[in-house]
Amino acid sequence: MTVQDVPVPQAVAAPLTRAAIFLVLAIKQDAASVAAVRAFLPDFSGFVRSVCFRDAERSLSCVLGIGAEAWDRLTGLSRPPGLHPFVELRAGARHAVSTPGDLLLHIRAGHIDLCFELARQIRARLGDAVDVVDEVHGFRYFDARDLLGFVDGTENPSGKEAEQAVLVGDEDPPHAGSSYVIVQKYLHDLAAWNAIPVEAQEKIIGRTKLDDIELEDSAKPSYAHNVLTSIEDDGGELKILRDNMPFGRIDGDEYGTYFIGYARAPSTIERMLRNMFIGLPEGNYDRLLDVSRPVTGTLFFVPTATFLDGFAI
Ligand code: HEM
Repeated sequence: MTVQDVPVPQAVAAPLTRAAIFLVLAIKQDAASVAAVRAFLPDFSGFVRSVCFRDAERSLSCVLGIGAEAWDRLTGLSRPPGLHPFVELRAGARHAVSTPGDLLLHIRAGHIDLCFELARQIRARLGDAVDVVDEVHGFRYFDARDLLGFVDGTENPSGKEAEQAVLVGDEDPPHAGSSYVIVQKYLHDLAAWNAIPVEAQEKIIGRTKLDDIELEDSAKPSYAHNVLTSIEDDGGELKILRDNMPFGRIDGDEYGTYFIGYARAPSTIERMLRNMFIGLPEGNYDRLLDVSRPVTGTLFFVPTATFLDGFAI
């Protein structure tokens, strides 16, 4: 294989930024709308380049994901092995909902102006062919904390390890360099969370709140978030790449975390979700869910940039 033959991934493993916009779009059912989106796919990277170049220091990037049904309608190709609608989970009062979404735009930059401009330009190009199903503007909250007050993202893999975690490899050569992403928009009951003593909160997360130091294993309960989301197979620990962002509105007390997780196989994130919602063992669930509920849940395939650039209409 020559260098030219290696597919170029999208900017999945881009560094965490101060601002992000998460846009989930639904493609209208008529043939003209599908054709308009198909025509946009090869132009997508040009939109990112144009807006990025206006303020190159602020590292604008955008990942485009495609949902299962949209993949069928847009490409007519067989589905990548891990692509399916998000699997809903229910246990007790906990409910990981599965919500529709054809396209995901995960737009990141050092400042929200670039994210907003790119979202606006793409929206204008797609026009009536799509409806916006969900739009979240995320912001960096002090030292990368979520609105629960804990630093979020510390144990993310970086560099080569991140690429290993998120990019499809030899297990599926036709889709090498692609990725999968799951998004869930969580709303928090901040009053209930803040009523929990800090020491108990630290046990729920598995880390100290102020200094973000991991608790010793002997101090972590089996329901700690970082116990339930640490999973292994024969080859060792299975990592994912998260770029969660806080968002909120003062009016209506809407405070949340937009969870976004990339992986080379969605089954890794699905196992974490089962541990959190159903519990490991069953009933030993993630206590974060007593104060946080997801109101969306969608799985997307992230084809390579090479695939999008060469998409034939
Ligand atoms: C770790 C918050 C949802 C997977 C963490 C940490 C925090 C956190 C504060 C510790 C610091 C860090 O390593 O990043 C949250 C919040 C969530 C949420 C507020 C939503 C309410 C999820 C979901 C998943 C997940 C849905 C996966 C399905 C992980 C993983 C780690 C982690 C893999 C690292 C564990 C380790 O290796 O120590 N999360 N999280 N999180 N979270 Fe979450």
